[in-house]
Amino acid sequence: MSEAASPVVPLISVERLYKSYDGPPVLKDINLVIEEGDLVSIIGPSGCGKSTLLRCLNCLEILDSGRITIAGETLERANRHDHPDHAFRERAHTLRAEVGMVFQSLNLFPHKTIKENIMLAPMIVKKEPRDVAEANAMRLLEKVGLLKHTDRYPYHLSGGQQQRAAIARALAMNPKVMLYDEPTSSLDPELVDEVLEVMRGLDRDGMTQVIVTHEMRFARNASDYIIYMEHGEIVEISDEDEIFMEPKDERTRRFLRQYVGRDL
Ligand SMILES: Nc1ncnc2c1ncn2[C@@H]1O[C@H](COP(=O)(O)OP(=O)(O)O)[C@@H](O)[C@H]1O
Ligand SMILES: [Mg+2]
Repeated sequence: MSEAASPVVPLISVERLYKSYDGPPVLKDINLVIEEGDLVSIIGPSGCGKSTLLRCLNCLEILDSGRITIAGETLERANRHDHPDHAFRERAHTLRAEVGMVFQSLNLFPHKTIKENIMLAPMIVKKEPRDVAEANAMRLLEKVGLLKHTDRYPYHLSGGQQQRAAIARALAMNPKVMLYDEPTSSLDPELVDEVLEVMRGLDRDGMTQVIVTHEMRFARNASDYIIYMEHGEIVEISDEDEIFMEPKDERTRRFLRQYVGRDL
């Protein structure tokens, strides 16, 4: 008998995800599978639900209904009247621990040095001894190219350096997946590449990453595939070149028209 290929178990799977904020749904029937090591870009117009999707994935928002599985941990809800019980909240907590998140706004603790920013959560949440947390912080600061700035305070760093420190801080919790919500949108243009380069490096290391971005060139060059969202729905999941050369859906075509003629 020939050896069967081992089944590919997705690292993230989202099924029939609905989410609303006291009104019409903001996410409607989202279905999505992301495999380990993938780098996935999510694009789409403002207000289409990109941030809400990321916030549901790391349980900053609780889904109304559907199922989210990350690294074997499943969160499921039948409908929004299905009150999250203790076990549900415990699972949400476990699931959140698997997910690192970096936001658009620079949100390091201002009164802590860069190194302390990175050591804090592992010491408090994971009870890591100080020397272990410090050694780990130094390793991560080297990875994001900030070894020279370990004892500086955030306000002494550029936006790009702060965002790299924020990535290191998220990595310090040893997540299985990293989510980024427009991580370069608040940066001066000349600082964008150094942050994107860190994500490329993590991709080479095999990290699973989901990035909401307007950096179309990065989306095209670095992603394994691109998700186009509109009005709370996934319109198209497409190969990174195909979506630019030949979008399948008229809505995607319309959105990407604004980038025509730019050097992507
Ligand atoms: N906390 C909230 N309360 C109420 N409405 C919200 C909240 N967050 C987002 N929304 C609404 O949900 C929709 C999707 O928002 P969002 O996920 O932030 O979209 P995007 O990130 O694609 O711009 C928008 O109409 C927005 O106004
Ligand atoms: Mg957003």
